[in-house]
Amino acid sequence: MSGLYIHIPFCRQKCLYCDFYSLATKESKKAYLEALAREWQQRKNDLNWGVKEPIKTIYIGGGTPSSLDKEEVKYLFSQILKDKTLFHLNLEEMEITFEANPENLTYEYLNFLKTQTPINRLSIGIQSFCDDDLKAIGRRHSALQAADSVQLAQKVGFKNISIDLIFALKDMNKERWEENLRRATELKVQHISAYCLTVEKGTMLNTLLEKGKITLPNEIEQEEQFLLTDEYLTKNQYEHYETSNYAIEGYRSQHNSLYWHNKPYLGLGASAHSFNLSKRRWNVANVHEYIESVNQNKTIYEEEILTQKDHYNEYILSATRIKEGISTSYIRENFSQEIVSHFLLQIPQLLQNNLLQPHGDQYLLTTKGMLLSNQIAVSLFL
Ligand SMILES: C[S@@+](CC[C@H](N)C(=O)[O-])C[C@H]1O[C@@H](n2cnc3c(N)ncnc32)[C@H](O)[C@@H]1O
Ligand code: SF4
Repeated sequence: MSGLYIHIPFCRQKCLYCDFYSLATKESKKAYLEALAREWQQRKNDLNWGVKEPIKTIYIGGGTPSSLDKEEVKYLFSQILKDKTLFHLNLEEMEITFEANPENLTYEYLNFLKTQTPINRLSIGIQSFCDDDLKAIGRRHSALQAADSVQLAQKVGFKNISIDLIFALKDMNKERWEENLRRATELKVQHISAYCLTVEKGTMLNTLLEKGKITLPNEIEQEEQFLLTDEYLTKNQYEHYETSNYAIEGYRSQHNSLYWHNKPYLGLGASAHSFNLSKRRWNVANVHEYIESVNQNKTIYEEEILTQKDHYNEYILSATRIKEGISTSYIRENFSQEIVSHFLLQIPQLLQNNLLQPHGDQYLLTTKGMLLSNQIAVSLFL
């Protein structure tokens, strides 16, 4: 099975912390959507899809996909679904996710998404249910709008809703974060992504920190908030299935699971990545260059062919983020004896430090392991 990712690189304004590729303008939106349709036609056979690896998920991410108006969303789907028969797309069985910002989610827009498009999963960027947090990170919505957007989505009939929250924001303590978790569970959403704030180079957040204008929770406070999330959400029937992701049974993100389980996917649009089991490709992260190159039929991506070592390191990186952890038989079946020996040599220390726990042929991540997944990965890397 494989997935299709479509990047919509437009936002009303740039949030302080965000380094995802997007522009705070809608000038080239029309030309961009036409280029997406063209790229799909140019690349749909790229990854040997169709019969071999049917597309099971579509993820429209950003940027802000909900900055598209109704006609634009309709156009996008009409272009992708032209090939419905060719690609055996069975919309009823697929997971089709649309990322949305709360301020765009009026009843009318949501009702349109639900009744006139095949979207069956919404991922809403709440970030926080606290107005002070939202203001501090440059969001355009209020806490009230955040909760309303979820309830409206439920009202129009969405039965698979995910929300994004961020912890370790400025001034966030355990009490404030717990209040966020309480609001999230009260809303009875099926899926919660709870990210620890990361400070990315080139963001306004990084500049403010470097200038000493703000301080953020320290490592111990970050760990406390991570552990609180695990405890609180697990108690409320959410499964902690990936470092930052929690789901009610049956509602794991199928699309993101493709990434974590090293399955193939095609990414369309500026800055989108693709993977076909042997190669990784990444599209140019520039809307104007992207449009121009697609229109002239030029290559818009760079690519890397993965070596055995790359494959192993990538497997370790993904496996140490997911609850199922690392499979010894997968490593034995796919890598050389030398690599297997390297892997087995590191295991006793990781078990002793209570980062992994054996389960048949697997090494599952403990909660401490989920917290320190980077540390596990680094010790297993080649
Ligand atoms: C690419 S954004 C798109 C979502 C949508 N535009 C929105 O902002 O609501 C996906 C999610 O990544 C998370 N994110 C982005 N930058 C982050 C950072 N520096 N640290 C932690 N989470 C971040 C946010 O929770 C955000 O909702
Ligand atoms: S967090 Fe969302 S709205 Fe904010 S800049 Fe990033 S993609 Fe745009």
